Amino acid sequence: MKKITIILSCIILFATSCNSPKETKKEETAAPKYVVEAHSYAQPNDAVVKHLSLDITADFEKEIISGTASYTIENNNASEIILDSKFLDILKVEADGKTTTFTLGEFDKNLGQSLKIAITPNTKSITIHYNTTDKTEALQWLNPQQTADKKHPFLFTQGQAILTRTWIPIQDSPQIRVTYDATVKVPSELMAVMSAENPKEKSVNGVYHFKMKQPISPYLIALAIGDVEYKAISNRTGVYAEKSMLAKVHAEFSDMEKMVVAAEKLYGKYAWDQFDVIVLPPSFPFGGMENPRLTFATPTVIAGDKSLTSLIAHELAHSWSGNLVTNATWEDFWLNEGFTVYFEIRIMEALYGKERAEMLALIGRQDLEDELEGFKDTPNDTKLKLDLKDRNPDDGMNSIAYDKGYLFLRTLEKTVGREKFDVFLKNYFQTHAFSTMYTEKFIAYLNENLLDKNNITFNTNEWIYNPGIPSNQVTIVSDKFKNVEKTLQQCIENNTADTTVTKDWTPQEWVHFIRNFPENMEIKHFEMLDKAYNLTNSTNSYIAMVWYEQSILHNYRGNNIDEKIEAFLINVGRRWYVSTIFKAYKKSNKLDEALAIYKKSRANYHSVTANTIDEILEFQK
Ligand code: BES
Ligand code: ZN
Repeated sequence: MKKITIILSCIILFATSCNSPKETKKEETAAPKYVVEAHSYAQPNDAVVKHLSLDITADFEKEIISGTASYTIENNNASEIILDSKFLDILKVEADGKTTTFTLGEFDKNLGQSLKIAITPNTKSITIHYNTTDKTEALQWLNPQQTADKKHPFLFTQGQAILTRTWIPIQDSPQIRVTYDATVKVPSELMAVMSAENPKEKSVNGVYHFKMKQPISPYLIALAIGDVEYKAISNRTGVYAEKSMLAKVHAEFSDMEKMVVAAEKLYGKYAWDQFDVIVLPPSFPFGGMENPRLTFATPTVIAGDKSLTSLIAHELAHSWSGNLVTNATWEDFWLNEGFTVYFEIRIMEALYGKERAEMLALIGRQDLEDELEGFKDTPNDTKLKLDLKDRNPDDGMNSIAYDKGYLFLRTLEKTVGREKFDVFLKNYFQTHAFSTMYTEKFIAYLNENLLDKNNITFNTNEWIYNPGIPSNQVTIVSDKFKNVEKTLQQCIENNTADTTVTKDWTPQEWVHFIRNFPENMEIKHFEMLDKAYNLTNSTNSYIAMVWYEQSILHNYRGNNIDEKIEAFLINVGRRWYVSTIFKAYKKSNKLDEALAIYKKSRANYHSVTANTIDEILEFQK
């Protein structure tokens, strides 16, 4: 079975990348438009969805979404159209307005079920009547206690990578694009917003209409419902947040318009008209999610000093790398994230200078080193292009795609020179706008438009298809971080804190300082540092998180830190933070302590965070 799929995908990959004019005559030899991929049941070359009309109601009592998903389809003489569905109740299906038959395939724990709908070669539209269930993985229904204002419930969706199928029956492959419109009914005290044209005020009756006119991949369809308000930053940027957060959020993200200007200057016009951010309750499992027109963000980046806003630069960068030029399969995920980290750091450099950009790059370099160490027994997971057949795409969503991807592009930039590289990237985004990209297609484009053209040889294949880091990697240096390392050394040697040296440190310098504690660091050093800087009570979530990690690893328990860590883990559901802390418990043989906390915190987590932590702690539900 596996072999057949590999052969088939080779044929299709070959066919799509080959535009031989001979092939255009006969219908049978027309190149299939879509590649075979491991994480969707859809057969889009036979019949594919083009436009989605959603008509749904969010029932906060029952915690279900119910209604209809209607599609116009492109039908290649097919007798069935196959969608993806997971944990959905499919009630009834129509083809061109008439009830038709459907079958749900065998359940797979990652993929869910195929939904095969009978159509005729002339069918132009289908409508699916459905409900979500309590097993849904995309949706997190929050009670008022889990929000900032504590008055009203909240709901948000998370589609990436393959969770959209748990709240909408759809062809859930990133290489498929749909435009959409939606009618969403919610309790009248709440506002609904989507990855679409959005309201700026509440409606009187709780009914909202949405339109997304640019075609997007299913993983980017998103919905949030809560008691939120809007505050504009410029005529095309602004923020949504709960009332008690709105002013803080607005101040924190006040450079958003400048970021869009800088990004456009680098790689071309912003294609989505509006760029807004909604700050969600703290259980949101990611730092940010690049839903088009409306990035979803964690409140943990609201630090009060704009120090963690590279997250916004990152999600904005996805408006080009990811949302405009989209990874065709999750095995090409590095094309989304590696390019985005590169672009993010360029935006940060444009706004705040080289020094800040290099600190960010170096933090990523250290993340990469840690990730490589973690994968030392499974080196295949350190390749950029992954093989995720029969695996959950989440398995490939780690620092390798982000930071090895970044290092590859940064090394390429250094080799060809920034000027040529920028021209290349701008053309890359323009040429492939609103289409998908897979690794082999990128390599061909790179060779043709950058390397061959300039007579440059580069070990692209080694970077992409081999484990580990090639020896031509660029070295990233930061004088600021060198100073931090020196300060740390002195601090330990003398067991004193020199507050004159540290008084102007940015959070990035603090993070670097803490993350580089030597293994033999003693409790007395923790006590001294905590006394001087009160790190246990840091209001910067990033500093607090790395300090908690080190404290657990070194068994420091002063300043009521255990209570702080527990409160943090119960409140915050950001997967990267939570998993870093739980991994530290595990590494230092404190699994019982970890499980005691996890039993209290798990119910607050979104499914993607809970699934990751279940695995780390080998937790049985
Ligand atoms: N698209 C990702 C989030 C994501 C990745 C969701 C994989 C589902 C599966 C988003 O752009 C992202 O990378 N977020 C990062 C922040 C960033 C600054 C590195 C995060 O959540 O930490
Ligand atoms: Zn990203």
